[in-house]
Amino acid sequence: MGKNKLAKFAEMATFDHVIQAPYNKHDHHDHELKGKWSSNFFKNDDPIILELGCGKGEYSVALAEFFPDRNFVGVDIKGARMWRGAKQAYEKGVRNVGFIRTNIEIVDTFFAAGEVDEIWLTFPDPQMKKHTKRLTSTNFMERYKRFLKPNGIIHLKTDSNFQYQYTLAMVQENGLNILAQTDDLYASSLLDDVLSIQTFYEKQWRERGLLIKYLAFQLDPNKPLREPDVEIEKDPYRSFGRSARE
Ligand SMILES: C[S@@+](CC[C@H](N)C(=O)[O-])C[C@H]1O[C@@H](n2cnc3c(N)ncnc32)[C@H](O)[C@@H]1O
Repeated sequence: MGKNKLAKFAEMATFDHVIQAPYNKHDHHDHELKGKWSSNFFKNDDPIILELGCGKGEYSVALAEFFPDRNFVGVDIKGARMWRGAKQAYEKGVRNVGFIRTNIEIVDTFFAAGEVDEIWLTFPDPQMKKHTKRLTSTNFMERYKRFLKPNGIIHLKTDSNFQYQYTLAMVQENGLNILAQTDDLYASSLLDDVLSIQTFYEKQWRERGLLIKYLAFQLDPNKPLREPDVEIEKDPYRSFGRSARE
């Protein structure tokens, strides 16, 4: 591991707004904050919103600044990326944002039923080969249902036509309520200050001329879900090299 990464990890360990509990170090029990984020972490009763796969935490920090009366938690497994957002929040004195370094597969061990109001999925890897790894598959929706409030909102922002079409199919298969949808956000009347926040990956994809898609829908925790059986054309550009992997 590089010296730079080690320094970032060491600094992360000093932040009290960062919880580090990756799967390989997790004791497979519920985290002590489960059901207690309001009382023990944020120390207020404001709504809790997650960004899953937050990378450098741009959305989490920007949303927290934009909505001081809501709480945000960015979740990702990559500590060196997360360090960026965690440090920025610390330096700016943004108190309504926290981070968990863990695997999204076990995110339900951190939050209790009804504890979370909304989830943002910002530029998730589309996982075109295996739907069970896709963050908008029913596999993950079943996990989100365990802690999302009834009719809680899921926001998906993506460059990937595959991810967008697949998620639309999943939503339609299950009769979920769509709140907003566009396959070209920047040409759409939906664009506002919140949807204009740009993550690291969004900037990269836009520089390559890709259109940004956005979908917001409600998930009903009481309704069983069916995985859609659909063939979707794969994104042709996914073999492009990506820069600045950390
Ligand atoms: C393509 S990046 C997008 C990052 C950020 N949202 C952005 O737009 O810049 C996907 C992120 O999701 C994280 N990720 C993907 N699958 C994950 C999983 N199962 N558990 C935790 N993090 C995951 C990766 O570590 C990566 O940082």
